[in-house]
Amino acid sequence: MEIKIKVGEIQKEQMELIVLGSFEDQIGLSQAAAAVNQGLDGQIALIVTDGDFKGKAKEVALLYTSGRGAAKRVLLVGLGKKARFGVEAIRVAAGTAAKRVRELGVKKYSTELFGAELLKVSLEDATQAVVEGTGLALYEFTELKSDAANNGKKVECVTIVLSDPSGLKEAEVGLAAGQAIVAGTSLTRDLVNWPGNIATPTFLAEQAQKLAKSTGLTCQVLDEAEMRDLGMGGLLAVSAGSAEPAKFIILEHNATHVDLDTIVLVGKGVTFDSGGISIKPADDMDRMRSDMAGGAAVIGAMLVVATMDLPLHVVALVPATENMPGGRAMKPGDILRAMNGKTIEVINTDAEGRLILADALCYAARFNPKVVVDIATLTGARTAALGDQAIGLFSNDDSLVQRFVTAGQTTFERVWQLPLYEEYADNLKSFAADMKHAGGKGGGACIAAAFLNKFVSYPWVHLDVAGLVSTETERPYTPRWATGLGARVLTQFLRDWAVK
Ligand code: BES
Ligand code: MN
Ligand code: ZN
Repeated sequence: MEIKIKVGEIQKEQMELIVLGSFEDQIGLSQAAAAVNQGLDGQIALIVTDGDFKGKAKEVALLYTSGRGAAKRVLLVGLGKKARFGVEAIRVAAGTAAKRVRELGVKKYSTELFGAELLKVSLEDATQAVVEGTGLALYEFTELKSDAANNGKKVECVTIVLSDPSGLKEAEVGLAAGQAIVAGTSLTRDLVNWPGNIATPTFLAEQAQKLAKSTGLTCQVLDEAEMRDLGMGGLLAVSAGSAEPAKFIILEHNATHVDLDTIVLVGKGVTFDSGGISIKPADDMDRMRSDMAGGAAVIGAMLVVATMDLPLHVVALVPATENMPGGRAMKPGDILRAMNGKTIEVINTDAEGRLILADALCYAARFNPKVVVDIATLTGARTAALGDQAIGLFSNDDSLVQRFVTAGQTTFERVWQLPLYEEYADNLKSFAADMKHAGGKGGGACIAAAFLNKFVSYPWVHLDVAGLVSTETERPYTPRWATGLGARVLTQFLRDWAVK
């Protein structure tokens, strides 16, 4: 889908369809909608005042101009209340409109830049949000379907019509950012949508290599022999029960620029989590093909970082493995040695994520990072605590908490801080090894974080995204299944860091 900006008056667009916004408040028409309304003898105002269309978020109404306007149809989309207006309302409106247009079978349309006149959102941010909402809403994963998605209906070209030529430069910066973010998030979604039999650790490594080739990122993939040399006993133990070899993926942006701040992103890459010997119940086990979504988020973020060419040295680490039961699988009671030499008693083989992250967090230290951020579908307890609206965040540095809260608000991939109290680690005391890797009743997300903390030697943020990376119910700009969560908030954190 092509998306472009044009300076002009939307009421003059000779199009099959134009999209206009309307607020929920009295006299809610946007400036663009008001201009079109005039040409239509007040037809748009009528549908609003008569109460058929309230302007609520996610609401749409279709009008035929019957030869009175330049465009054949007008799609009116709700922008919600002015007081609550912001980039998220724009994403929701753009996504809602784009999907309705696709349903209509219209291939080309023009849209206004919703609510830009309210001056609450800059032209750059509004444009980025329209591009994000549109591109993310129209995403489809059709690789494995014989029937064309959406009955073969596809939007081919969207034109954003800008009324004020002086804003063109700003809008174009927003367009480029939006396109990079849509591409990165779509890559994340693709990687998560590929099923476990295709998206193996080897497949993930190949995708990372392909990405490096097309973007100029550097990519290195460690095999199991190299992991053994490094002493990555956690990753190797999780991989032991699987017929698929583990891979440790390293992607780097600006690898040779020693003067830049180094930020390491670590993503959990369990391509299928059966639970191992502590096997999971059959119900919903298929969902565990998304247990590599942290890794996918990190890889998607690297595409954005490379496209935007951020002035940072960014390293992505993805320990990739299956967690399977098998003759050689790790067993409850086994004791492993992580890369930093610490010994770990395995309590439940289904707590595999923290074992592979332990090694990756040790490896991260080599880069002498300013910050390390890990992102992982780590605990069901995250879902119990926060439901489907907030990423669980843990950190040893308050300024990083603030940065992530801000990035979460901007992207609407919102984060909520959970405690990293030392006492949680009391649950991990082992008499046979340096520590157990699980234990305690309740607070599972906090105990997992306390475990990871033992492998950390730098400012650090841990994002627990379990339960947030796939969905059965579509949202305005999130189709069913892979949500792509993580790519956008990570990118925003990095963009903010680059201009700090
Ligand atoms: N991948 C799961 C976490 C998960 C659960 C993600 C539900 C998405 C939905 C993780 O590896 C896991 O199994 N965690 C266990 C840990 C427990 C055994 C200490 C959990 O949360 O139950
Ligand atoms: Mn597990
Ligand atoms: Zn898992």
